[in-house]
Amino acid sequence: MTTSAPLDTRIERILIPADEIQRRVKELAEQISHDYADSDLHLICILKGAYFFCTDLARYIQSPPLSLDFLAIWSYGSRTQTSGEVRVTKDLDHSLKGRNVLVVEDIIDTGLAMKYVLELLKARGPNSLKLVTLLDKPARRLVQLPLDYVGFTIPNVFVAGYGLDCDQFMRNLPYICVLKPEALPR
Ligand code: IMP
Ligand code: MG
Repeated sequence: MTTSAPLDTRIERILIPADEIQRRVKELAEQISHDYADSDLHLICILKGAYFFCTDLARYIQSPPLSLDFLAIWSYGSRTQTSGEVRVTKDLDHSLKGRNVLVVEDIIDTGLAMKYVLELLKARGPNSLKLVTLLDKPARRLVQLPLDYVGFTIPNVFVAGYGLDCDQFMRNLPYICVLKPEALPR
């Protein structure tokens, strides 16, 4: 699917078109369905960025029983770089004890936010804890994390769309785009 609507003037270029995202999300769902064929699966969607990815992924996963919960976090720092200080703004509704947990994230950049999240969730006693990220931006990584499933590895550019925001806007774009330098949040 290509878009015929004019692009937002803040967009420099489309990095990943909508049809490529959907194709890859389906592939990830098939892999996950296969890997969890003999167990339960509890998805933790990290709000807000992973919301679009998580809903598509969950729809494509074919291995019930699947359950889902939401964790909202706020990472401090400048708009384009986290400091590693994270605050939970909406905690999980359900216990993780004995569950096979798969954390669903939009992007791993420095890795600091996810390091905090994984440590928090590990302390709650899941049977297993894995991570799927739609995007991996390895150039700025500060902490090493086990990335169990990765959608796309991208260069060191600030992206928006498909859940990722530019100052809270552009999350609803069906593609992932690179923003013009002057449009970047400061
Ligand atoms: P990290 O702690 O540096 O790995 O990244 C934490 C969060 O920063 C991610 O979950 C995103 O919400 C946000 N982030 C990092 N890179 C981008 C980007 O290119 N566009 C939009 N948000 C981003
Ligand atoms: Mg995020």
